[in-house]
Amino acid sequence: MTSYASQSGFIDNLNPISIQSLEDACWNWCRKMGFTQVRLPVVEQRALFERGVGNGTDVVEKEMFTLQGSENVLRPEGTAQAMRAWIAAGGIRYGQARWAYCGPMFRNERPQAGRFKQFQQFGCEMIGLPAGPGDADILVGLSDFFTELGLREKLTLKVNTLGTSAERSAYRAALQDWLKPKLELLDETSRKRFYTNPLRIWDSKEPGTKLLMADAPRLLDFLGDASRTYWDLILSLLDDAGVNYEIDTTLMRGLDYYNGLVFEWVTFENKAQNAVAAGGRYDGLAELLGGVATPAFGFAFGLERVDALRETESSNKRSGYYVVSMPETEAYALKVSRAYRNRGETVVLGDFNGKLAKQVQRADKLNARFVIILGPSEKETKSVTVKDLDTGLQETVQFLD
Ligand code: HAM
Repeated sequence: MTSYASQSGFIDNLNPISIQSLEDACWNWCRKMGFTQVRLPVVEQRALFERGVGNGTDVVEKEMFTLQGSENVLRPEGTAQAMRAWIAAGGIRYGQARWAYCGPMFRNERPQAGRFKQFQQFGCEMIGLPAGPGDADILVGLSDFFTELGLREKLTLKVNTLGTSAERSAYRAALQDWLKPKLELLDETSRKRFYTNPLRIWDSKEPGTKLLMADAPRLLDFLGDASRTYWDLILSLLDDAGVNYEIDTTLMRGLDYYNGLVFEWVTFENKAQNAVAAGGRYDGLAELLGGVATPAFGFAFGLERVDALRETESSNKRSGYYVVSMPETEAYALKVSRAYRNRGETVVLGDFNGKLAKQVQRADKLNARFVIILGPSEKETKSVTVKDLDTGLQETVQFLD
């Protein structure tokens, strides 16, 4: 028989306990922050991302999976599709939405540690909320979330502002003027970006380009009064909440829809992929997609990347009950299992095959915390023998159904 292994970049997650507990933690965070779950399709029109994310971005230009013979793609991200759904639902009538999603995204990238062709993103989008304290509230909430997950020490919050589109245009022109006489000092990709998207020259990892850009004009110096007041407000709210951050004026984000505050939570634990969570404001996206102008702000993170930073202990922790029994006490075993489940416990029924000691070994392999041992004497006396696999202690108690 043919065996089908997964392809590189499309991973089998055969030990989902940790990812599942992370997802549970995400939904618990959403409950506290007032986000409700939306389920959006995995297949979308290519044009949505061309317009929304931007034709010149890596995600759209190089990484989308197109369905053969169609104009459809597997979604590479959730922000443009959340906005599409909001517009299609006539969202503006409702004023505001706080939406959250968790599901597969697809990008045809070269796989490496922490980078997959199919990955899972948890994302939140606040649509209809203008720039203001709500943005800082999400960053503070995320900081607390990462603390709760035991990751805050491993992460650095980087923030920058991209200003308004008019401020960005003025900056783009100034940057091009400054770079023009130095073009031959740029690496090849950056030279192309000089004409198409000069702000993305900041993303270059080439040492020569980085050295040159160290003296380039900064977008922060092109902000008008309103943008500067907003930027100062965000920073002062973060200071007030005791959330550490770094201002990184080179942080431009790779997707075109952003304006104003942008941020990334980065880690230095994994050298290959250091962005763990990212987001920002995207006040122009609704209009770009044909809707009424609607301010918006959001973020997303890859579940796999966050999970990789967590200690593995949660996936190895023992939990639940495993029932060990014999064919002649099957009915009693089912009755006991049912009663324990009705009390809210997790109960796995064993296969009743072989000696009791062998069955207990199977419980051990499955990481059960307790084994319920049921033989003829337990059945007769209406009792259960419970062994704690953590301590090795065993006791027989009355069975109360
Ligand atoms: P993004 O920076 O493209 O932003 O992706 C967000 C996160 O998804 C990354 O920080 C990373 O954790 C994860 N991620 C991205 N690509 C991969 C990959 N190939 N393999 C594993 N994980 C990956 C967005 O997608 C925006 N939609 C975020 C946003 C929401 N902005 C506003 N609202």
